[in-house]
Amino acid sequence: MQIGNIKLSGPTILAPLAGVTNLPFRLIIKKIGCGLVCSEMISSTGLAYKSLKTQMLLNSTEKERPVSFQIFGSDPELMAKSAEIIESLGADIIDINFGCSVRKILKSGSGAALMKTPEIAEQILISVRKAIKIPLTIKIRTGWDKSGTDALNILKIAENCGVDAITMHPRTAKQGFTGTADWSQIAVLKKAAQIPVIGNGDITKPEDALKMIFETKCDGVMVGREAMKNPWILAQIDSLIKKNKKTEPDINMHFDLMIDYVKESVLYLGEKKACFILRSRLSWLTKGFYQSSHFRESIKKISSEQETLSLINDYKEILISRQAHAE
Ligand SMILES: Cc1cc2nc3c(=O)[nH]c(=O)nc-3n(C[C@H](O)[C@H](O)[C@H](O)COP(=O)(O)O)c2cc1C
Repeated sequence: MQIGNIKLSGPTILAPLAGVTNLPFRLIIKKIGCGLVCSEMISSTGLAYKSLKTQMLLNSTEKERPVSFQIFGSDPELMAKSAEIIESLGADIIDINFGCSVRKILKSGSGAALMKTPEIAEQILISVRKAIKIPLTIKIRTGWDKSGTDALNILKIAENCGVDAITMHPRTAKQGFTGTADWSQIAVLKKAAQIPVIGNGDITKPEDALKMIFETKCDGVMVGREAMKNPWILAQIDSLIKKNKKTEPDINMHFDLMIDYVKESVLYLGEKKACFILRSRLSWLTKGFYQSSHFRESIKKISSEQETLSLINDYKEILISRQAHAE
């Protein structure tokens, strides 16, 4: 798959997830295997006013490339300025958020609110396209309150403005995350599109991705929530597509990944902040494992890298010895 001049190693894309897809998380996903990783959404206002918290979201390293940075906002000038800043820091792709349905974002006219204000959407796309040379993509919903014309309208505007690819999470803005993703809307978009279409929504196992590609003819697949629990899913999809083989990580691989995640988090966030964030993240990564509730209880209060690593290693030993007994 190719987005503008950026060639991806495969059609698998890690979704932008606010509070989750920071640099450490993107790095572990990349290490296992993924065509493209995306940053969480970044406020164009925060960037323009040099908010420290926003600037932290721009952390990146060569190892994660190609990487896409997503911005949100409703002011064409601020959006263009932000895109310019991010391009100058070495991003490969800029993505614009047309899909966030959080009330605060909608109230500011950003995210999925742009689905019902095509004239503002167009101004933003014209300004951002003019400001940067790297590929530009957008991530949309199916519409504001009903699926259909809003998405096709935005597609046409995007293509006229020189957007290089479009992702659809097929729920309306009003739906938020309720109901199920209507993949038939991805098929409708793909039929009308001249640019690559990335399908997203409710992929919870590798076979789902193949089904989505088969049913919609989309060019790439994007996974969000499932990757928070199973970071292997993107590599598993890739393997299923390229080798027709389903891969499963063993306990050692999964725990090595958790250790990597802890180390990268401490490196990029500092020990205190990393430990705070890891309390929930490590919990997600062990959901469904034998006696995981004990582990989850123990990591609720982690405050140092050393303590975290030793809890992970202890838990790994429990799982390995249980497995040895079962064999
Ligand atoms: C915790 C969380 C944070 C998200 N943050 C973003 C974001 O920053 N930008 C965005 O475009 N979508 C965001 N989304 C939406 C996802 O990228 C994705 O479109 C949605 O979860 C559907 O895909 P999935 O079923 O694979 O999770 C977020 C979703 C969740 C659950």
